Amino acid sequence: MQNKGIFISFEGIDGAGKSTHIEALAQAFRAQGRSVTLTREPGGTPLAEQLRTLVLNEPMDPLTEALLIFAGRRDHLRQVIEPALARGEVVISDRFTDATFAYQGGGRGFDVAVLSTLERIVQATAADNASFIRQPDLTLWFDLPPETAAERLAGARVPDRFESQPVVFFQRVAGAYAQRHAQDPARVTRIDAATSRHAVWQQITSTLVRKGWLAIMVAAQAGPK
Ligand code: TYD
Repeated sequence: MQNKGIFISFEGIDGAGKSTHIEALAQAFRAQGRSVTLTREPGGTPLAEQLRTLVLNEPMDPLTEALLIFAGRRDHLRQVIEPALARGEVVISDRFTDATFAYQGGGRGFDVAVLSTLERIVQATAADNASFIRQPDLTLWFDLPPETAAERLAGARVPDRFESQPVVFFQRVAGAYAQRHAQDPARVTRIDAATSRHAVWQQITSTLVRKGWLAIMVAAQAGPK
């Protein structure tokens, strides 16, 4: 098993069921003796968490929304993600840039070329290499029909600016996730989230075992509670 830093993001529409699997995966890595940084976007630093509160609750135009999300991401990369990877840790983030292409690009219909430009500027994190753009080593995309996700979420909590969107919004978000997967299938792995919790966990662990990041024994013993 390697001990280099590994950056994994979890993605999917609201209600796709990422949370318990994120916890379980962190536990599995820890059982293997790895240090894990568990984080999320929007957010992950005190500054980015303040931006998150604004983005999820305050009315704003789509460009303002995209800029605030990328501003938070820059701080998150510099303060948390890059230092943890440099220490050789496993970084697991509940969402990263694919969510911006899905929600702002797909959901809101915001200009994807502008998002790509911001991605290149914000995720250039190596001072000595201008062409380096930080991306997750692996993205686990929880694919679930928007109608099913809406049923799962119904009445769960007070919805934020995204959760309160109609199903058509999430159909566009899901379409944009599918496009990200098609553009980079080596990085973005599709997880069929319409199956049982156990079956979802097995899809995740088999992906990680195949990459040589997780031992089969650890994968078999761990799992969502
Ligand atoms: P989410 O992970 O769903 O948090 P919670 O489970 O606490 O609601 O993320 C919050 C919302 O932010 C979610 O609806 C998706 C949205 N979002 C974007 O619109 N763009 C982004 O770039 C990111 C990272 C999230």
